[in-house]
Amino acid sequence: MSWFQQQSLPMLYSHILAVGIPCIISLVAAFRLTRKRAYPLPLPPGPPGLPFLGNALELDTKRPWLTYHAWGKKYGKIVYTRVLGIDMIIISSEAIARELLDRRSAIYSSRPVIPTNEMTGLAFNTVLLPYGETLKQHRRIFHQVLRVEASVSYYEMYSRHANELVINLLNATGDLQEPAQVYTASLIMAVTYGHKARGRDDPFLDPAQELLEIAKHLLSPERAAMFTAFPLLAKLPSWCFRGAYSLMGRCRELAQKLLKEPFNEVRAQMANGTATQSLVADFLSQSDNKADEETMRAVALMIYIGGIDTSSSALLIFLIAMILYPDVQARARAEIDQVVMHDKMPSLDDRPSLPYLDAIFREVLRWQSPIPLGMSHATTADDVYEGYFIPKGTAVMVNQWSLSRDEDVYPDAERFDPTRHLTADGKLKGSFVNHFAFGHGRRTCPGRFFAENSLWTAMAAILAVLRIDHAKDSNGNKIEVKLEMTAGMVIRPQPFRYSFEVVNSAREAQLQAMMNSK
Ligand code: HEM
Ligand SMILES: *[C@@H]1O[C@H](CO)[C@@H](O)[C@H](O)[C@H]1NC(C)=O
Ligand SMILES: *[C@@H]1O[C@H](CO)[C@@H](O)[C@H](O)[C@H]1NC(C)=O
Repeated sequence: MSWFQQQSLPMLYSHILAVGIPCIISLVAAFRLTRKRAYPLPLPPGPPGLPFLGNALELDTKRPWLTYHAWGKKYGKIVYTRVLGIDMIIISSEAIARELLDRRSAIYSSRPVIPTNEMTGLAFNTVLLPYGETLKQHRRIFHQVLRVEASVSYYEMYSRHANELVINLLNATGDLQEPAQVYTASLIMAVTYGHKARGRDDPFLDPAQELLEIAKHLLSPERAAMFTAFPLLAKLPSWCFRGAYSLMGRCRELAQKLLKEPFNEVRAQMANGTATQSLVADFLSQSDNKADEETMRAVALMIYIGGIDTSSSALLIFLIAMILYPDVQARARAEIDQVVMHDKMPSLDDRPSLPYLDAIFREVLRWQSPIPLGMSHATTADDVYEGYFIPKGTAVMVNQWSLSRDEDVYPDAERFDPTRHLTADGKLKGSFVNHFAFGHGRRTCPGRFFAENSLWTAMAAILAVLRIDHAKDSNGNKIEVKLEMTAGMVIRPQPFRYSFEVVNSAREAQLQAMMNSK
């Protein structure tokens, strides 16, 4: 067991919803929170609603994107529904997502308000901020510390961790989620705080993981919808939400600890000259603005919260794709061996010469986007689209699953095929930064460059040294692998069997030597 082992938190807390719903129904009945405004134009088409709970009962709560995808086929590319008293539209086309979330971003850039943010101590969470000054401040600091040029000096840090990942994979026997999370978590802690993870008794990684699990639990889409719809929830008698209340307390405690301690450690190290390069150290050496400093604490913690599940999921999707599509794997390795010297490891400097590898990265994010429903935006004014009325305060979801399965854009969409992203002469098509997997408009993922660099480096290092293949049974027959994804806001492949084989022993020897000299 280690600090990365999934705790069974979701099971522990699943009773909260069950207890919560009766309380909510009685509240709704009492306060008639579901009363609708009269709208001047028709709402977009959608499934007929039920009183009180709206369409919540019709939802596949494990994989709502499949329900929404089916609705998209039945009712159109923009669907209106009402869940627990909230207006919601679900967009299933890239063109409409761009029209509304990009071009009309002045209206479509807020988030549904979740009144429990303060109670959970998660008010620092960038993802949840409504559009406004605090959000702009956060995004400014994100760009300042993670902008593309700035990350060049971090290439070496990415490489060192990717090399460690390769060794860990060679040694792996169990679920690959562990080495994938070790890679992203320790890389993030190194880049953000210059912090060297100390394994299972690490003072920061453990609480950070616990906070992440609680936050995810408290903020699952259904729950978020619930809280949004019922601001009075904050005043509910505690018997309704006893479990959630104690969780929120723990969440507050962890958040306070993690906002303070790792940051203060960097400051102390800077004072005695022992700090190594990190985003926080860079920031502190450049800025003495107190307001910015508070934001930087939040941003630093957000890199962990926002980065770990998403990036490790993408890495696992890559690994399983390489097992299922050995031709793709072989072509990528051939590209690396053509560009990078036989006894050298690829590095981010080689990235422009390796377009096929970049195409794989894009395809990973298309084929199984880690956040299939993205994050809800919310409108801050009434709007009209193609004759349909979209009320102020509507939650707006882009169903990335539908975008990825649009057969007009991605023929044979179930197939993992990096060449979709290449021109006939092997160059990358268009700009990567616009990948739908990173969201839309003014809320586009601010960690995307970090995600690109960390994943690119890991993929390149793995392919340069190892071949990943099916595991074999005791008779030497290959064990079939089936792609099955977990449920949740951020999805990842269920555990799968695998085998690794060293295909370049010169590079492997280098990595082993590096590990031994640590
Ligand atoms: C493969 C990896 C990743 C994927 C697929 C991903 C995807 C997303 C998506 C879909 C959103 C919502 C965008 C929207 O509302 O339109 C988002 C927001 C966000 N992401 Fe990422 N992300 C990844 C990695 C990261 C990393 C590494 C970080 C931190 C360095 C990060 C930090 C954030 C933050 C702070 C937000 C909230 C932005 C806001 O609300 O304005 N993400 N991400
Ligand atoms: C790999 O596994 C072996 C045996 O379990 C262990 O002795 C060795 O220390 C491991 N190497 C690394 C780099 O973790
Ligand atoms: C410098 O400060 C850090 C953080 O307080 C501490 O852990 C470390 O031991 C100190 N090192 C020296 C050489 O004083």
